[in-house]
Amino acid sequence: MARDHGFDRRSFFRTAGLAVAGAVTPAGVGAVEPVVPAPGVEPANGRYDFDTLPDRIGTDSTKWDQQFKRFGRDRVAVGMGIADMDFAPAPCITRALLERVQRDNWGYLTVPESHVESIVAWNRRRYGLTIDPSTIVHSPAVHPAIIATLRAFNPPGSKVLMPCPSYSGFYSDIRIVGCKPADVPFTVKDGRFSMDLEGLERAISHETHTLILCNPQNPTGNVWSKADLLAVGEICLKRRVVVLADEIHCDFINAGSTYTPFASLPNEAVVRNSITFKSASKSFNLAAAKCAYFFSTNPNYLARIKAWHRDEITTLGMVAHRAAYTDGDAWLDQLRVYNDANLTFVADYIAKHIPLIKMVKPEGTYLAWLDVSAVVEKVGARAKAEEAQKQRDPALAPTTPSHVMESWFVEHAKVQLNPGGGFGTGGGERMRMNCGTSRKMLELALGNLATALRQI
Ligand SMILES: Cc1ncc(COP(=O)(O)O)c(C=O)c1O
Repeated sequence: MARDHGFDRRSFFRTAGLAVAGAVTPAGVGAVEPVVPAPGVEPANGRYDFDTLPDRIGTDSTKWDQQFKRFGRDRVAVGMGIADMDFAPAPCITRALLERVQRDNWGYLTVPESHVESIVAWNRRRYGLTIDPSTIVHSPAVHPAIIATLRAFNPPGSKVLMPCPSYSGFYSDIRIVGCKPADVPFTVKDGRFSMDLEGLERAISHETHTLILCNPQNPTGNVWSKADLLAVGEICLKRRVVVLADEIHCDFINAGSTYTPFASLPNEAVVRNSITFKSASKSFNLAAAKCAYFFSTNPNYLARIKAWHRDEITTLGMVAHRAAYTDGDAWLDQLRVYNDANLTFVADYIAKHIPLIKMVKPEGTYLAWLDVSAVVEKVGARAKAEEAQKQRDPALAPTTPSHVMESWFVEHAKVQLNPGGGFGTGGGERMRMNCGTSRKMLELALGNLATALRQI
């Protein structure tokens, strides 16, 4: 199958062995093809193997295949961009999908009660959150739901309050509906980010109708405290700004942090002024399966959004999502521990071996938000970005030093990272590194980055 696309199974593992001259190449990577467990089979010892990756090359993956197309097959050793993971899915998901495929029928779907029940049970079991099943609205993904919500509340030209840096996709959604982001940058101290509550209140005007809250925050990894959430919620309630709480990353919380669902806050009026958006897609690596949901205790808000929204999901997405939420706890619990250790490893490695990059371990998500301003300075990326901007349509999002750095890191380290410039104010000299991969892949990427940066 993969051969049809010009790749074969071995090429992925060979990719893992591609390093720039002099880079540290982890022993074993690329040397021996690991044995990938059979799809859908539970491990005999109950330990899921996150060190062994399935072959994603030739599967039309954005994280790998698209980067080969953009930069050249031999120029990318590690794709660390778009936020999905390299791991094989939980076996319970594959089993459910295989069973459904045997039925060989793909007509229109009436979403079964069992799917809704799995959503309610997951949120209750894991987070103590009670969701009234009649308030759950399905959506093929979070984006269409956010777009419908913005259409419902934000007339064209009006403003969306954005505590930032924040997920680049929100900025596209805001553009799509013809609104404008009102950025309120986090305050930064010793590399740690916090909400600027006064700044938020100051930025609200009669044109501001919504706020997009991301918890945990993509890309900074903040897991917002109950006090932070309440404070934001109270400001929004007082100033009549509707809160869109995107909690798609909430299942990845690192040791020492606690996720507070916005809908669990102890102020009913604050909760009634919000809509929460979720999916199993980040947690279980189901991004292209297209299945998400949103809910609110405010029937008026839901009615307004539904006027702009088609609540359709795909059969395979529903089957995968339901299997994940029903039987995926053990897999996710083990992956959380693996991911937490990976992020500690990345933060320690960067602190010890890559002095030109600064990073603080995120409290949640599998994303690292790298401060590359010292590299920007050394390679003259500010001037290059200004030059590139002169050729660019001013109506488009501006070229920032981070956009120059994306190509630089590919050229010099064969590592593709997301430019921080797309994540709003404060991202122009940052890169987002997706660490949702095996330890060996991280070692390879970091080794390449360290080697490249030692040479400048
Ligand atoms: C915070 C956040 N919300 C939404 C999305 C996109 O979700 P979906 O694929 O369900 O549209 C992402 C993807 O990276 C994300 O990080």
